[in-house]
Amino acid sequence: MAIDLKGLPIAITGASSGIGLYAALACARAGMPVTVAARRADRLAEVVDRIRGEGGRAVAVECDVTDPVQCRAITDRTIAEFGSIYAVFANAGYGLEKPFLGMSDAEIRAIFETNYFGTINTIRPALDAMLSAGRGHVLVCSSCLSKIGLPLYSAYCATKAAQDDLSRALRHELRFAGHGDVHVSSVHPIGTRTELFETKKFLSGGQSKVLPPDSQRRLQSPEVVARAIVRCLRRPRGEVWTSLPTRLAMAAALAMPGLADWGIGLAVGSRLRKSEGG
Ligand SMILES: NC(=O)c1ccc[n+]([C@@H]2O[C@H](COP(=O)([O-])OP(=O)(O)OC[C@H]3O[C@@H](n4cnc5c(N)ncnc54)[C@H](OP(=O)(O)O)[C@@H]3O)[C@@H](O)[C@H]2O)c1
Repeated sequence: MAIDLKGLPIAITGASSGIGLYAALACARAGMPVTVAARRADRLAEVVDRIRGEGGRAVAVECDVTDPVQCRAITDRTIAEFGSIYAVFANAGYGLEKPFLGMSDAEIRAIFETNYFGTINTIRPALDAMLSAGRGHVLVCSSCLSKIGLPLYSAYCATKAAQDDLSRALRHELRFAGHGDVHVSSVHPIGTRTELFETKKFLSGGQSKVLPPDSQRRLQSPEVVARAIVRCLRRPRGEVWTSLPTRLAMAAALAMPGLADWGIGLAVGSRLRKSEGG
């Protein structure tokens, strides 16, 4: 039976834009009180106003997910405001397109601090509350790229794979420890129209060398991801995918890594060689 989400509070990080913002709107429309968290307080205030304007309940927590103390405040505030925390969506993150040999240790550690450790900082306090309540749902925004390593995306793909593996292992651990009503799901969006690409361009120092020039036209809307998240909250499952062809391609890539390497060479090899002047 589907879970009735009305009145079940959710906290969402990275809710000042993109997937997190649309997930917050969709959850609020499904009747969930929402805590929106990110660093840009002005953007969060707009999201809260929008949700309240539609008759929903929302509160903002300004937070850098790299700080565990600030992340604990997300759970604390949700419980203080709405009485409990039913779900958490660890979504804050950013992309980086750089060759492995061109990246500093600091750059690699920084993306892990946000994408991976930020996830841990976010879900730990929420999990404590969920285990006490005997039910809940942890969602983690990984990526379709969690299953393969793309050239120039070693750091980003590694953070997404780490989130994926964390989610899967935690799901088993909770189930085997008798906490089967605390669900854990990883979310695997394909390219989605958000600010991620602008931020990535800024951090990576220019236009993408890997993505085709017309890739922006083929991006899915963040609303598609948001709807898939609400569906998963209603009917929990281990992984959320927003494109069946991509899911099947990733399954094939895992089963046949040699074929996947050939496909990656075909898809991006010539662009990369051209950018290297080869
Ligand atoms: N867009 C895609 O194609 C795509 C595909 C697969 C997976 N994803 C994943 O989707 C998630 C959301 O990204 P998006 O595409 O929606 O991009 P986005 O529009 O750039 O949103 C990223 C969000 O993360 C927040 N954030 C970044 N660093 C943070 C930090 N240190 N502390 C707190 N919040 C932080 C940003 O808010 P502030 O700047 O206000 O802090 C923003 O709200 C990411 O994990 C990304 O890896 C995206």
